[in-house]
Amino acid sequence: MISKKMSESLNKHMNFELYSAHLYLSMSSCANELGLKGAANWFMVQYREEMVHFMKFYTYLVDQGTNITMLASKAVPNTYSSLLDMMQKTLAHEQLITARINDLSEQAVQEKDHASRIFLQWFVTEQIEEENNDRDLIAKLKLVGDNGHGILMIDSEMGQRVFVPPAGAQPAV
Ligand code: FEO
Repeated sequence: MISKKMSESLNKHMNFELYSAHLYLSMSSCANELGLKGAANWFMVQYREEMVHFMKFYTYLVDQGTNITMLASKAVPNTYSSLLDMMQKTLAHEQLITARINDLSEQAVQEKDHASRIFLQWFVTEQIEEENNDRDLIAKLKLVGDNGHGILMIDSEMGQRVFVPPAGAQPAV
């Protein structure tokens, strides 16, 4: 049993994970438009990961007996000047998610809601990896600058990313 306040906070964040999925789906199409098929793949994998995150929140809330609320989807940006621009906005977005996960974790601690605190622990760890991946790519993109060959090398590397569903994850689109 979780408090109404906690379930509302988790429900709000669940919708934010769905927004994240939409954001990266849009970035995938923008990368494709820029001719960067590898980056398009990378963002598509990111989209699928966010759908898993969304479903994790959904399943947790349903398991806790919550009648979930789907909020209206906000339009996501679909114009970017470069791959570096996309990655910098990805990192900024992930930092926002990290802050929100930390706030949720703090709320769980304040409420002595150990089930939610343990549930959120997975996301605390996941955010370290997400931000780290983004920082690595930003550093590489800054190194190559406008060098087309360098960008294509990074694009090729991004094309190698494979979606691996986390253990116990609910199927997501
Ligand atoms: Fe669901 Fe990228 O955090």
